Amino acid sequence: MERAYSLVRFSILRPKLLSVMDLMLTDEGRILDVGCGFGLFAAYFGQTHPRRSIVGVDPSERRIAMARSVAAKLGLRDHSFVVGDVRDAALEGPFDAIYVLDVMHHLPHEDQEQVLERFRSLLAPGGMLIIKDITTEPRFGLLFTELLDRVMVGWNEPLAYRHHREWGEMLTSLGFKVRMVRVPDILPYPHVVIAARKT
Ligand SMILES: C[S@@+](CC[C@H](N)C(=O)[O-])C[C@H]1O[C@@H](n2cnc3c(N)ncnc32)[C@H](O)[C@@H]1O
Repeated sequence: MERAYSLVRFSILRPKLLSVMDLMLTDEGRILDVGCGFGLFAAYFGQTHPRRSIVGVDPSERRIAMARSVAAKLGLRDHSFVVGDVRDAALEGPFDAIYVLDVMHHLPHEDQEQVLERFRSLLAPGGMLIIKDITTEPRFGLLFTELLDRVMVGWNEPLAYRHHREWGEMLTSLGFKVRMVRVPDILPYPHVVIAARKT
């Protein structure tokens, strides 16, 4: 199951997209991976720059247990993983960077701004927040993504996407300097990568 997920994830988050994010992350220091799942990208970003010390957080105990085991097998001794919800998990800052890959739309709309505020308070001055998410246009791309997300999470969980402009405005009002790029894909995913530096 996890092997299949990894293959699918690496075909969605292609090398181009991962390289953009890799380049924006600090190559050493403490980095928070929000919604880390079973640690796929903590393992990736930890291996491209082994001086990164990545803390992963995810509500799934099973995924966190796997993340710990994967990190141990790869010798990523500075990585650590916390079971919890990013809204209230015990996380100790400051972090030099935070990345959030396809997680923000899993939080209800009304909680998203508070979570961004939390990221700001956890970041060191000048720290970088990277959000990879799905924007809401074109409409077909959103419907395509939503359908696949529904297969993963079922009908009861919230899926709260936003247009990238809205994310940009929210982050700017919270005191981040924001840049973003839409990343084309051969599949119709409307990817957007947002780089927000704490000012
Ligand atoms: C689409 S998966 C992405 C996993 C990983 N970031 C990746 O890119 O492969 C969404 C992840 O977000 C996690 N998640 C959902 N709600 C969360 C929350 N409130 N706090 C932290 N993680 C959450 C889920 O458990 C899941 O592992």
